[in-house]
Amino acid sequence: MWLRARDVAMHAATNDRIAAAVTRLPPAREIAASYVAGETLPEAVAAATDAVEKGLEVSLHPLAAEATTPAMAEQATAELLGTVEALGSRSELAPHAEVSIALSSLGIGLRDAGPSLALHHAQTICRAARNAGVLVTIDDERPEIHEDVLDVVRSLLADFPTTGVVVQAARHDSLDQIRELSATGRRIRLCKGDYSGPKDEMVVSPHDVDLRMSACLRALLRGPSTALIATHDPVFIAIAERLITDLNRGPHNVEFQMLQGIRPYEQRRLADIGHRVRVYLPWGRDWYSYCTRRIIERPANILLFSRSLVARR
Ligand code: FDA
Repeated sequence: MWLRARDVAMHAATNDRIAAAVTRLPPAREIAASYVAGETLPEAVAAATDAVEKGLEVSLHPLAAEATTPAMAEQATAELLGTVEALGSRSELAPHAEVSIALSSLGIGLRDAGPSLALHHAQTICRAARNAGVLVTIDDERPEIHEDVLDVVRSLLADFPTTGVVVQAARHDSLDQIRELSATGRRIRLCKGDYSGPKDEMVVSPHDVDLRMSACLRALLRGPSTALIATHDPVFIAIAERLITDLNRGPHNVEFQMLQGIRPYEQRRLADIGHRVRVYLPWGRDWYSYCTRRIIERPANILLFSRSLVARR
């Protein structure tokens, strides 16, 4: 039953015609509404303001499809610059705000000049963000573009040292990356990783992912970098809390990060006891593939989502 429901959701996630139909369905829009901060920038800014008023930090992520043309990359850059400007112009928001960038939307996957184009756009955004007092983190993405993303990040760090970098624990080289990137003031976001890839690049069994997450978490918290712990998993949150106490870390150099709509009470609990907590707020009309990824992560969501499609037919 679970596998069939997952297959339905997987198929739905990758089919453009289904995407076009589903994004108009009220049940799908309802599920999406819990994971995204709105379809427009003013809605996202309102959600960010609400989160900041509750004592949380925010990371805004304009949802954009992978750029298949330079024009799409420019459009995504303009959207990010607009987001930076909107955050920077609000003094109550800017000190708590970050933008998260997917380099795929800035053209990194375009043939030949993709990485240099994405670097150029990312530099423009980082410069604007620095002037606006807003932070930037570069998301990690599918394994095929991982090395290019890392190269762009290395280049950005030379000019913009506060740029946040993501390590997916599930990668075989995750510990190496933490060792390579560790530096005082360096912002490293550790997450489990949500792209299943070739077995020579990623560990795939959930148990093995947890073992790697555990090793990475210890390495990150014992090192000099600012640890951005991006997980909703109660076990890793508990381990992190213990290590933070034992190692006398935080709150200035440790941060918990969670996605919009997932474990909101835990986000508030951690903030209420003095931790820095950042909520990742994706926004935009292009929410379909982001939401189907979140839905696929959770069996209960898949059944709900699949039933809503079947019921409609
Ligand atoms: P896990 O998936 O085991 O979930 C633990 C618990 O969280 C579940 O038992 C459930 O209670 C809750 N939960 C998790 N997912 C849920 C869902 N969809 N709906 C409802 N409840 C859910 N990945 C990546 O590859 N590149 C990146 O750049 C990033 N960036 C990033 C930023 C931030 C701020 C976060 C929080 C996460 C990412 N990720 C990411 C995603 C990450 O790799 C991972 O897929 C998710 O965080 C889920 O993993 P958990 O550690 O939460 O564990």
